Amino acid sequence: MSSSASKSAPRARDSWSGQTGFLLAAIGSAIGLGNIWRFPGVSYSNGGGAFLVPYLVALIFVGIPMLWLDYAVGHKFRGSPPWALRKILGGGEFVGWFQTFVCFVIMVYYGAVLAWGVQYTIYSVNEAWGADPTTFFTDSFLQVVPGDTFSWAPAWSVMIPLALVWVLVLFVIGRGLSKGVEAANKIFLPLLVILFLALVVRALFLPGAVEGLNAFFTPNWSALADPNVWLAAFAQIFYSLSVGFGIMLTYASYLKPKSNLTGTALVAGFANSSFEILAGIGVFSAIGFMAHQGGVSVSEVEGLTGPILSFVTFPKIISMMPGGPLFGVLFFSSLVLAGVTSLLSLLQVVSGGLQDKFGWSPARSALVLGVPATAISLVLFGTRSGLNNLDIVDNFINSVGVVSSAIMFAVLCAVAGPRLGVLRAHINSVSSVKVPKLWEPLVGIVIPVVLFVMMAMSIVQILKDGYGGYPSSYVLIFGWGSVAVAVIASLIFTLIPWKHRPVDTHATVAQILADDADDTASIEGGAK
Ligand code: ALA
Repeated sequence: MSSSASKSAPRARDSWSGQTGFLLAAIGSAIGLGNIWRFPGVSYSNGGGAFLVPYLVALIFVGIPMLWLDYAVGHKFRGSPPWALRKILGGGEFVGWFQTFVCFVIMVYYGAVLAWGVQYTIYSVNEAWGADPTTFFTDSFLQVVPGDTFSWAPAWSVMIPLALVWVLVLFVIGRGLSKGVEAANKIFLPLLVILFLALVVRALFLPGAVEGLNAFFTPNWSALADPNVWLAAFAQIFYSLSVGFGIMLTYASYLKPKSNLTGTALVAGFANSSFEILAGIGVFSAIGFMAHQGGVSVSEVEGLTGPILSFVTFPKIISMMPGGPLFGVLFFSSLVLAGVTSLLSLLQVVSGGLQDKFGWSPARSALVLGVPATAISLVLFGTRSGLNNLDIVDNFINSVGVVSSAIMFAVLCAVAGPRLGVLRAHINSVSSVKVPKLWEPLVGIVIPVVLFVMMAMSIVQILKDGYGGYPSSYVLIFGWGSVAVAVIASLIFTLIPWKHRPVDTHATVAQILADDADDTASIEGGAK
């Protein structure tokens, strides 16, 4: 074989070893930082027990239908987002790359939070934060500079574990889907469930746990009249289920043709929400204990959301309780395990996109994406302005990047190429639970409209009030800048011509011939 022929020989796509491997990875992707550090605080500050109403509505009417759409597109077109969306409409490739680069932006800061978790697992052993966990977190550990200053100075206690996190996840991704991602999920997810269950059981037996649970579950029904509470529920479901920005689409593209898509989506969706509620129970039992020790009510406890909940409030709780170091190791290692499996799913979107478009091996894709990702991650989030950069990028890429990606994706599937009817027929042809016709207007009209309103409200608020008290130039560079980077990179990657088509080892000969006739023209003609 001539060298040019062997160079252009298409590389067969990997696949899950079976439905269980896929299900574990899908659940592993969904269960992440969003479940442990985001959900309990969001739920508590948005109506407590009453939040479960919009949350369940969002799960059933937005989360699961979008999950079905992700699965249908990935499974039908058997490719990562750029390839799959290009099969719907030539220009759809841009939306596919936009989803891919939204994942890229998320993964560069997501890794940093994992690095914090790794360090705090170690710190828990001797409660290294001492008597003042707040000052320890901001001054000693992150060495945060004021909110209006960018600093290139490394915070070594973050940078070193961050570099190690990147080496680990790139190694896993470089091994490929079945040997890397699937194998890692088969170890990490069961381990997470065992550790986290042990933590919740311990928390439930702490004095004051019942007051914590009362605060968490007592409904404030008037909150249901507040549109922001509903928006918070939709945002939580999107982030937590990893829907609408390429992850589940990519994972479903590696399934074998005969796979039960709808049933698996239901199991993944409800497993993720069950874990979320379990996290709320564990976290609020511990907060109830803290309030009990301080002789105050739970409503008087401060720092119940985001990084502060995990990295300041929890260390305080750990220092107060007998056997605190063990509890700390359980809590922070759970955070790390939950986060690693989600980070792998973000990486797989980018790696899969490169493999499909350029015909590269998983190892080569890991290297090509890993070098810039690690460099950006270390410079922006391993330095002394890391916390501020992370706060801004996280807010913008979620409220603008993820949501706009989901809107474009749903609208594309509704108005172009093979429409929602074809996708519904496809998903129903292989699944146990049948998707009803109502799914089509829901996904094609209602969900994009709801998401658009949600995004417009956040943008108006940011334009009016700025974000987080940061100078507007800082917000412009890191907030709008992160979205702009995703748009520009997507345009560039869309314009690069295709040299390969992803080869599906499970397709029938007839399917391959039909697809080939279709694809050859468009690949030879460059990007459609
Ligand atoms: N679904 C992932 C999480 O909850 C991204 O963190």
